[in-house]
Amino acid sequence: MTKTFSFHRSDFPSDFLWGTATSSYQIEGHKFGGAGRTIWDDFAETPGNVVRNEHGQTACDHYHRWPEDLDLVADGGFDTYRFSTSWARVMPEGRGTPNAEGLDYYDRLVDGLLERGLKPAATLYHWEMPSALNDLGGWRNRDVAKWFGDFTHTIMSRIGDRVWSAAPINEPWCVGWLSHFEGAHAPGLRDIRATARAMHHVLLAHGSALDAMRSLGMSNLGAVCNFEYANPADPSEQTAQATHTYDAIYNRFFLEGLIKGTYPDAVLEGLGPHMPKDWQADMAAISAPLDWIGINYYTRKNIAFAPGGWPNSTAVEGPLDKTVMGWEIYPDGLGHFLQRVHDTAPDLPIYITENGMAGADVLQDGHCVDSARIAYLEAHIAQVRAAIAKGVPVKGYFVWSLLDNYEWAEGYKDRFGLVHVDFESLTRTPKASWHAFRTALAKD
Ligand code: FCB
Repeated sequence: MTKTFSFHRSDFPSDFLWGTATSSYQIEGHKFGGAGRTIWDDFAETPGNVVRNEHGQTACDHYHRWPEDLDLVADGGFDTYRFSTSWARVMPEGRGTPNAEGLDYYDRLVDGLLERGLKPAATLYHWEMPSALNDLGGWRNRDVAKWFGDFTHTIMSRIGDRVWSAAPINEPWCVGWLSHFEGAHAPGLRDIRATARAMHHVLLAHGSALDAMRSLGMSNLGAVCNFEYANPADPSEQTAQATHTYDAIYNRFFLEGLIKGTYPDAVLEGLGPHMPKDWQADMAAISAPLDWIGINYYTRKNIAFAPGGWPNSTAVEGPLDKTVMGWEIYPDGLGHFLQRVHDTAPDLPIYITENGMAGADVLQDGHCVDSARIAYLEAHIAQVRAAIAKGVPVKGYFVWSLLDNYEWAEGYKDRFGLVHVDFESLTRTPKASWHAFRTALAKD
């Protein structure tokens, strides 16, 4: 049974940072503290969207239990903690009067991190748009860029002086494609025109948030994108084309928009006719200079040709070992994207802002031995080490996630945490993977 890591902190550059990541809706408990309704509350309440119709009303009750949770980050030997701010907690209607309790909460959280010697790594949006703004079209409405800029200004006027880093939007692919084309996440649309608009507006909103933060004098600002290695499932020419399209939608559209100010032809081929008017004029704001890039990486997909309309690609089951969510375990993909992001943005430091795996972890006699997670993390961290040896400027690694939490459409059944959460009693129990980090990260 794997119970330890073979690496130690001292195998990495002395300024390399180790962290854990979470997000607001997945852990806080949205019913607490005067937060407004969000698209995830609406999506979850609609039968068929989420396993067992589960929602984030209580989640891990991190809203009240954050001191205990931050102790777990510090005691695990980590240097930094990535969290997100809930737009509807700060502004229940998405615009207008802020919720004082919400602002106070993030203020306390940031101070709590600093008191424990942890660097606060903030993400402004991790998927829960206020419902009141979704009523106005949400990500489809160009005004979202202004609304998001105003929210950014409000929350960062409060905590921006003390956060160590900030990124506007977690995983624009999920906000744009997964939620508006595949309908798998809130707001659950399957509409190509909505998709084109959401994908562009989410980047425009990124630009306006960046602008708001620069105007407040903030620095160390980045962008967090998710990447999935696209593997052709068969050797046919049609499948090669399908894989190229999938890769362009998932791995190139957002990165190239942010870094180069251009969108790939392979995406415009399908979305071009549905893009908002004069989108080209926004590309300078979208590609404003960044201080770092964050990579979220979990898996690869095996892609095959699909008849029907663009994008003519579909994911099929592959041969590799899988996590309980059916995600193939493919550590080489992380090495691939570290190099690829570096090639696209040669001047920017890179952070792994999420990496981890779901398990069906159970507590036995008060212990949870998540050996499969330790092996997964070990293999991915080896890729980070190899990339650094090749000269890729990787500066830190955040595990997803600190706690078992609300895994979106999968509800609470799949557990990603280094710390087990009993969702009845809300008791936290560090798993073997947490203990393995504690040993590996000890400063001696
Ligand atoms: C990422 C999300 C995160 C979590 C992990 C498993 O795409 O950013 O909230 O759901 O996947």
